[in-house]
Amino acid sequence: MNIIQCNDSKEVALISYRIFKEQLIKKPNSTLGLATGSTPILLYNELIKGSQLNEISFKKVNIFNLDEYVGLNSEHKNSYAFFMKEYLLNFIEIEDNHFHIPNGTACDLIEECHRYNNLLSSTKIDLQLLGLGENGHIGFNEPNTSFDSTTHLVELTENTRKNNSIYFKSINDIPTHAITMGISNIINATKILLLAIGENKAEAVYNLINGPIDVKFPGSILRNHPDVTIILDKEAATLINKVK
Ligand code: GLP
Repeated sequence: MNIIQCNDSKEVALISYRIFKEQLIKKPNSTLGLATGSTPILLYNELIKGSQLNEISFKKVNIFNLDEYVGLNSEHKNSYAFFMKEYLLNFIEIEDNHFHIPNGTACDLIEECHRYNNLLSSTKIDLQLLGLGENGHIGFNEPNTSFDSTTHLVELTENTRKNNSIYFKSINDIPTHAITMGISNIINATKILLLAIGENKAEAVYNLINGPIDVKFPGSILRNHPDVTIILDKEAATLINKVK
């Protein structure tokens, strides 16, 4: 595991951007796995700038997003489909049918999980971007999710709902369920880039790097992957540095 410590979130975004740029120059028709949440926003700004400066192009790229809330359609401002439009897709040139995300309003959610999983099985993600939940979740794979899991319907933990409540009017508005890529889908990517920003991630980062590889902490599985880069700001790296 390659661990890069940065001074601040801006530097995290710039270094991550370089990794994306390298990938897209090496393989213009890359398949990217992307994430939502506050962590990747500065990186998405850099990707937008890079494509406007013609340093990178998304014209041949396919994007697969990690997860989506159940019950929110793509026009709902709290859906992850909306998030992706607002923070990236509206500002880059990408084919409409090259952006993929689970449909959280499908009539048959189990069938939707199969549909998304089949799509994932028909491709190979070249570069998968991840954030990290305080409880170690990756995507919406909460603690005790099997490492063999594929795309599935998940009940969100209270901790996750509470942490994501800043984006909603009230905690009651936060969906109780989501569809997420499974851990085996994530691990199948050729290269994985995990970003963590802020002191509230310091304990999760410590556990990811030093704790046991255990389903209780989903992110720990990344230690078994051959090509993982973790980029941290100073605050997120606080505990790993104390131990050194
Ligand atoms: C959310 C998302 C994850 C994200 C994580 C961290 O619940 N499902 O994909 O990585 O939690 O979010 P943030 O970046 O806002 O801290």
